[in-house]
Amino acid sequence: MKGFTLLCSAALLLSAASATKLNVPRLRLSYKDLLSTNRSSIFSGHHGQLSLSAVFLDEYRDRLFLGGKDILYSLLLGPTSSESKEIYWPPLPGNREDCIQTGKDPQTECANFVRLLQPYNRTHLLACGTGAFQPMCAFISVGHRGEHVFTMDPLNVESGRGKVPHDPSFPFASAFSGGELYTGLTADFLGRDSVIFRSMGGRSTMRTETDQKLLHDPKFIAAHLIPDNDDRDNDKVYFFFTEKATEAGDREGSIHTRVGRVCANDVGGQRVLVNKWSTFIKARLVCSVPGPHGIDTHFNQLEDVFLLRTKDERNPDVYAIFSTISNVFQGFAVCVYRMADIREAFNGPFAHKEGPDYQWGAYEGRVPYPRPGVCPSKITNQPGREFGSTKDFPDSVLQFARSHPLMWRPVFPALRQPVLVKANIPYKLKQIVVDRVEAEDGHYDVMFIGTDSGTVLKVIALQGGNSLEMEVVTLEELQVFKVPTPITSMEISVKRQAVFVGSPAGVAQVKLHRCETYGKACAECCLARDPYCAWDGSSCSRYTPNSKRRFRRQDIRHGNPVLQCVDQSPEDLDVTEDKVVYGTENNSTFLECVPRSPQATVTWLVQRDDRKDEVKLDDRVMSTDQGLLFRRLFRHDEGVYICRSREHGFTQVLGRITLEVLQGETVDELMARDNAGLSDSFKDRAALGQSRTWFKDIMQLIGPSNLPHVEEYCERMWCNDKLRRKHKSMLEKYRQAQESARKARSKNSGERNRTPRDLSAWEE
Ligand SMILES: *[C@@H]1O[C@H](CO)[C@@H](O)[C@H](O)[C@H]1NC(C)=O
Ligand SMILES: *[C@@H]1O[C@H](CO)[C@@H](O)[C@H](O)[C@H]1NC(C)=O
Ligand SMILES: *[C@@H]1O[C@H](CO)[C@@H](O)[C@H](O)[C@H]1NC(C)=O
Ligand SMILES: *[C@@H]1O[C@H](CO)[C@@H](O)[C@H](O)[C@H]1NC(C)=O
Repeated sequence: MKGFTLLCSAALLLSAASATKLNVPRLRLSYKDLLSTNRSSIFSGHHGQLSLSAVFLDEYRDRLFLGGKDILYSLLLGPTSSESKEIYWPPLPGNREDCIQTGKDPQTECANFVRLLQPYNRTHLLACGTGAFQPMCAFISVGHRGEHVFTMDPLNVESGRGKVPHDPSFPFASAFSGGELYTGLTADFLGRDSVIFRSMGGRSTMRTETDQKLLHDPKFIAAHLIPDNDDRDNDKVYFFFTEKATEAGDREGSIHTRVGRVCANDVGGQRVLVNKWSTFIKARLVCSVPGPHGIDTHFNQLEDVFLLRTKDERNPDVYAIFSTISNVFQGFAVCVYRMADIREAFNGPFAHKEGPDYQWGAYEGRVPYPRPGVCPSKITNQPGREFGSTKDFPDSVLQFARSHPLMWRPVFPALRQPVLVKANIPYKLKQIVVDRVEAEDGHYDVMFIGTDSGTVLKVIALQGGNSLEMEVVTLEELQVFKVPTPITSMEISVKRQAVFVGSPAGVAQVKLHRCETYGKACAECCLARDPYCAWDGSSCSRYTPNSKRRFRRQDIRHGNPVLQCVDQSPEDLDVTEDKVVYGTENNSTFLECVPRSPQATVTWLVQRDDRKDEVKLDDRVMSTDQGLLFRRLFRHDEGVYICRSREHGFTQVLGRITLEVLQGETVDELMARDNAGLSDSFKDRAALGQSRTWFKDIMQLIGPSNLPHVEEYCERMWCNDKLRRKHKSMLEKYRQAQESARKARSKNSGERNRTPRDLSAWEE
């Protein structure tokens, strides 16, 4: 039954996702495109594979610090310079060998994988690495702002136990504040002791008790200090993690995502919970979509968290990527949480279970004072009730805290639904950063989402006018890394308008926007719907609010160029090119027309005499993603074909192609003339002939149905691998032939319009 429900909701999600062309990115930029337009630059270390495992972006010093396998880098982020310095940092002598002896892998485990890079004081960073399963930390001198110092005293190394995990592959989260380090990790060799730690600084080390009620196989994703109000005594450190959900009861292996927190001024209890957290509480983070029969589909596994900080430092927006853990289908969602909702859950009832045979419910008894989860502060430290420190808390409070760490009410996302859902996609969503961008009509949160295949999606989610339905617009899909590789870290720099994208292969610095890419016309700029960009009267350029420029055209919400660009000179929209294509009677012919945006739909008109009609499509005349295909050309097909794209209510003429149909005798005559060797090389002609043959073969395979791609047809027919390979190689040959035909044509372009010799014009 459960499986059935999942399947149903999966189907629902799938149909929702495929129903619209809008899930297709408006612009796809390849690795080459990004490099050639200076949109992206890559650093991949000086010694082959960098095995990047830690990143710290230092906006104050204009430096990017990287940690990898036995290595640390410092990159200067000057406007021109890209100077780098490195520190070789292997495990301590003997540790690599010891690690190998315990049966660990010499390459992927028995090295010093740097997991932590945090600013420590005005001149030093704190760096910690796995040290071949012997965690270690060191201070790195990075100098003051303006100088490029990067040194480490190899003798001044201390134990990193409790600061980073032993195993380089284990999840881990940390936050550094007030000279103290907060970590969520497994702190032992075997990776079983899951714990939230506080270390360094003057106070004694704090940790969670070993108790599955508190933490049950947690996978830590992020940790952040977030103040509650102006009283610093109320500062709290929040941990975001996924763990086994005890309260889910009978459902074996079910997991929930949590937000947990401790008070920064927690020093543990006096008699109970000595040096253990006395303020730790946690609540569930829900991210789900409604399914059929009122059963929601839950995204339970947390993948990444980004805190979108605003002027109000107490109330950042929490963006989180989730995935499903179902075997039935793989889906991803982005949910956004407000701090107010998180605090409300923590102020609500505690979850309670009377005994093994009871149901979980809200605790309805008397909660001791000070309420567990509340930090000792001026409020709790009143005459007669002097609780100035957690050491003053009564034992009853500590006992209650220990037995009731979970809140009863979960935290729901803003608007009670994800801002983005993706299912049935050939990649995974891994990392997220968000930029709040000022636009003409308000601000937009632009999400940059890193996938496991080396791409970054730039996405905005718009809430529909009066409906709750979200409209998700994928503005760009950027292939940041040359080969598919999982993106493991992302840092955004609003200051330099760039995002730093990390993968095992290296780090890419990618600009947040490049408005020129969208095109040279007002309409194209407007259709892009990119909050960073606007039409300034002559080009698509960066939109800057408060600028004196009078002329700014932008329409993110509707992308309606008809309204925005109506007074723009018509030449702006005229991206047409007039062409002539020759086809032979009874043979096939192709009129090419590909819109810049994959979201646009194309219609074809044909002009004969003074009439313009829409082209009638059937088995013989087919509209494909690449253009108009005549499987058999008739004499009456002659005419001027107009390719029109339509996107968001805006229509644009992309091309005008005059089709001339050659009849038998003319063709024979031409062939004869050609064969006499009047001009062309034999080779070029052979290429033309060959391409025609392949094309016909492909057409035979496709058959009469109106399907754009051989591949797609193949999938539909469940054809076997062998056949698919055959089609693939055929397509490849077809493309090669097309290429040589193009070369041949350009060689003869001079006489192209006079002599109808280009018989194989389908790739024009
Ligand atoms: C990219 O940067 C290089 C060096 O700064 C410059 O010469 C080149 O013109 C730039 N290319 C583009 C497309 O902006
Ligand atoms: C920063 O910390 C390092 C390591 O403890 C210490 O050597 C250095 O003097 C400190 N610098 C400042 C400016 O406090
Ligand atoms: C297609 O054109 C070629 C070359 O002109 C000719 O040999 C062939 O018979 C034509 N095919 C049809 C179906 O007319
Ligand atoms: C095309 O086919 C028609 C009917 O089959 C035939 O009458 C005509 O001669 C053919 N033309 C050429 C050039 O093959």
